[in-house]
Amino acid sequence: MRKTAVLGTIALIGLSPLTMASDLEKGKQVFSQDAQPSCTICHTLADAGSAGAVGPDLDELKPTKEQVVNAVTSGVGIMPAFNELLSEEQIQAVAHYVATVTGGNK
Ligand code: HEC
Repeated sequence: MRKTAVLGTIALIGLSPLTMASDLEKGKQVFSQDAQPSCTICHTLADAGSAGAVGPDLDELKPTKEQVVNAVTSGVGIMPAFNELLSEEQIQAVAHYVATVTGGNK
C-alpha cells in the first residue's frame, strides 16, 4: 500500500513539469514561427533569442497573460491583430509563454 502511494507521488511530481514544459514549447513556437509576421521581428524576448526593437521589450514590460491575449487578439497601435491567423489555443499558448518567461504571470 505504502509503496503505491509513494510511487504515485513520484509520478505526479515527475509529470507536471513535463506538461508545463510542453505548453511553453508550444507558446515559444507560436512566438518564433507560427505568427506571421513573427513576434520576434518586433519584440525583444531573451527566452526566444529575439532582439526586435519595433515594439516594447517584453522582458522589461513583463506583460500579464491577459495583456498578451488582448494585444495578440486585437492588435495595438501598429502591431497587427493575429486573431485570423492564430487559433484561440495558439493565442493562449503564446500568452502563457510570454507571461511566464518574463515573470509577468505573478
Ligand atoms: C509588426 C511589429 C509587431 C509584431 C509582428 C508583433 N508586435 Fe507586439 N507590439 C508591437 C508594437 C509597436 C507594440 C506597442 C503598441 C503601442 O503601444 O502602441 C506592441 C505591443 C505588444 C504588447 C504590449 C501590449 C500592452 O498591453 O502594452 C505585447 C504583450 C505584444 N506586443 C506581444 C506580441 C506578440 C506575442 C506577438 C506575436 C504574436 C507580437 N506582439 C507581434 C509590434 C509588433
